[in-house]
Amino acid sequence: MDITIWGTGVTAQELFPLIDPTKVAVVAFFDNEPSRWGSRCHGVEILPPARLGDFRDLVMVIASRAFPQIARQLAKAGFPLEQALDYFSERSRVLEIVAGQTFLVRHYHTVVADRLSRTEERFTIERPVTESLPCPVPLEARVEVARRVGLAFLDARDAAKEVSSSKYRIGENWACVVAVSREPLYSAIKNQDWEKTVQLLDNYFRSDISSSMGSCAAAFQGFVRHADDAWLHHNLRVWDYSVGSHTPLTELAVPPVGNPYGFRVGGLLINADALLNHHRAHVVRRLLEGVRRPVVVEIGGGYGGFAYYLNGGPGSLTYLNFDIPESLVISSYFLSLLFPNKRIALYNYSTKAIDTGFLSAHDIVLMPNFVLPHLAEGIADVSLNTISMSEMEHATIEEYYRQIERTCRGYFYMENLACAPSYKGFPVDTFPKLSGFQEISRAVSRWVGWDAYAFGHTYLEQVFQRNNT
Ligand SMILES: C[S@@+](CC[C@H](N)C(=O)[O-])C[C@H]1O[C@@H](n2cnc3c(N)ncnc32)[C@H](O)[C@@H]1O
Repeated sequence: MDITIWGTGVTAQELFPLIDPTKVAVVAFFDNEPSRWGSRCHGVEILPPARLGDFRDLVMVIASRAFPQIARQLAKAGFPLEQALDYFSERSRVLEIVAGQTFLVRHYHTVVADRLSRTEERFTIERPVTESLPCPVPLEARVEVARRVGLAFLDARDAAKEVSSSKYRIGENWACVVAVSREPLYSAIKNQDWEKTVQLLDNYFRSDISSSMGSCAAAFQGFVRHADDAWLHHNLRVWDYSVGSHTPLTELAVPPVGNPYGFRVGGLLINADALLNHHRAHVVRRLLEGVRRPVVVEIGGGYGGFAYYLNGGPGSLTYLNFDIPESLVISSYFLSLLFPNKRIALYNYSTKAIDTGFLSAHDIVLMPNFVLPHLAEGIADVSLNTISMSEMEHATIEEYYRQIERTCRGYFYMENLACAPSYKGFPVDTFPKLSGFQEISRAVSRWVGWDAYAFGHTYLEQVFQRNNT
């Protein structure tokens, strides 16, 4: 098949080596830069746009960020736009055409005798995974876990009613999420129907129980209809560069708990959350380097995505999550199934002081938010909160900041809103000052959908360091 490429810059240089010459021949390059006309790129002539008409029957790959402008230019020249493919937004289609498959390329660099050596590895992006993925944990064990976490939930919900401080009450946003999406789960637990509880949690990612925390039924149905993977290429690269090419792709694999869906990449199931959460765990691990059996305290840990990657890594640590009981029950179920050999502490009425003694007896501590004041002073090496505080009441944010100041001796890692969204949400610049800490890094989120292009939904990644650590 003959094709043409628009652009001769870095993108074209990246694209060209990916082409399978047994399948595809590039017969012309186009460029708007007159000084390039007549010269060659990879042995193929660079032509002026005036020659477009000669190639109007061929597919053209636009290897440029300026697709909208180039498309206008093509339309004006009478070039059929359906023949023009945008390498950035249609990377899978382009790779299918030029290479016969779609893949992620990772590059490995070394210096040998003063010279840069570059090798590459390709990971095939095989297909969307939408078939059901059975949980490998036997049903009997799942029912027992559901019973344990369900009873802890009922205790925590009762105890929450007695908490006097309104700062620990569920806020407006989350009260709404809980009311509209989770009732079937809570009534199964309330009725102590553990089989039903298991059934619901085992299909977590494909139902509304995961609303605002991973997925929802409509998101899954949308994925079944059209599994858009433009973001995947981008985010896989973001992940690759962020964690470094020495990090094996296998670390990303999403475990088959809660019936997740996503893409099969290099034989592994990967989804957007995996990239974000693995990266966050990587950041936290770097902050913890050199600390013996560190303590990591998360506030609002969702279904446990970050905790999975953090706790699945090498070395020993203690992980704590403080969340509203309504969400904690979900992370408690997942983490109990995923880490059957870890010592997991769940809430009961007698849970009072969470101090060094308590922590030395546990690997994972999953507590309702109102227990946070019982966490010992200066115990956390890293505290973190992602995509969460912005959604709380302002008084709650203030209270959690005071708790972080009291309990964290190392770093506070945070990812929250940069801007005011369409729903009620507080941008980080409205958060109080974190006394005794210095902000050592602040960057716009690197992920598609959260970055500076995501108007109204842009997040900031910040790291604060305790003074004198
Ligand atoms: C959008 S989810 C984010 C989950 C996870 N941190 C992530 O980044 O994927 C928001 C989390 O904040 C929790 N949350 C909401 N209100 C809270 C509160 N008042 N105290 C503690 N956690 C809360 C939710 O239960 C949920 O776990």
